[in-house]
Amino acid sequence: MTTSIKVNGKLQTVETDPSSPLLYALRNDCDINSAKYGCGLGQCGACMVIINGTPVRSCITPINSVNSNVTTLESYESDRVLNALNKAFIAEQAVQCGFCISGMMMSAKTLLDTNKRPTEQQIKVALNGNLCRCGTQTRILKAIQRAAK
Ligand code: FES
Repeated sequence: MTTSIKVNGKLQTVETDPSSPLLYALRNDCDINSAKYGCGLGQCGACMVIINGTPVRSCITPINSVNSNVTTLESYESDRVLNALNKAFIAEQAVQCGFCISGMMMSAKTLLDTNKRPTEQQIKVALNGNLCRCGTQTRILKAIQRAAK
């Protein structure tokens, strides 16, 4: 079945089972590489994208439930907050293997879009659904604090 979704402001038409995960359409049909398949169970946050200002796990989101623009890390050049996060993550060397970073940045952007000066505790709560298996949480926290300055 043909389904249309808007990704980073661009309308995309995909041929897929309407109940299949949004993540598959993003990666297989929309040239989106930032959203990753980590657990596929909604537990790690590697597949996080933003829909309606909310971080969403695209691995457990059926494509037929998506009726608003999907924002991914690929939009960072046109997004002031994502651009600032990108620079801050590099400056703080927050990336080790990098697999979780896109999802982390999606959650961080959602936070900074509504709270320009979050406390350390607020950042920790916002990133509660994102796991980093390399253990760079401390540097990720610093990067988000740097982006918020
Ligand atoms: Fe979606 Fe882990 S891959 S939450």
